[in-house]
Amino acid sequence: MRLFIAITLPPVIKRQLADYARALGALDPRARLTREENFHLTLAFLGEALDAPDACAAMDAVSVQPFKLYSDKPGCFKRGGDIFWLGLKSSAELTALQAALSAALQEQGFRGDNRPFAPHITLARQVRGTELAQLPTPRFIVPVGGITLMNSERINGILTYSPLYQKRFMV
Ligand code: 2AM
Repeated sequence: MRLFIAITLPPVIKRQLADYARALGALDPRARLTREENFHLTLAFLGEALDAPDACAAMDAVSVQPFKLYSDKPGCFKRGGDIFWLGLKSSAELTALQAALSAALQEQGFRGDNRPFAPHITLARQVRGTELAQLPTPRFIVPVGGITLMNSERINGILTYSPLYQKRFMV
């Protein structure tokens, strides 16, 4: 299994992101767009694992209040082909959640990612030379009521993310 822990997005926001990604794709037809159902915000990438109990235990150890996330500006990572994303505004709640999760994962023996946390939703890969500023940026608010353990696999060649476990935050 290839695991990661994410904040999932409501369908109406995924629709907005899909429209935005399509507009990006129209500017650069070679771009590989993220499928609408796959939009998410990764909090922790765990990589290959034989099973999930340790990851679930780490998630259960995280205790924060539900909070809201606000969309931010788009940007890109230059890794191989450019990866285009929409950022989420950093906030004390998001930073606290990500730090608590990282600490709980380390406690369970997962090795952390040394890169600084850059909250983003990947929109498209292998984008070249696209002028994102031409597009109106989607604006939305994500209600964060929990975190989800996801399995990443290719099913008939299609990258598919499946939820394995959800930790809900108590008010
Ligand atoms: P991305 O959003 O920047 O593509 C599943 O692969 C999720 O885990 C993706 O959201 C991906 O980030 C994230 N991720 C973080 N580190 C990764 C890595 N080293 N390899 C693959 N995916 C990674």
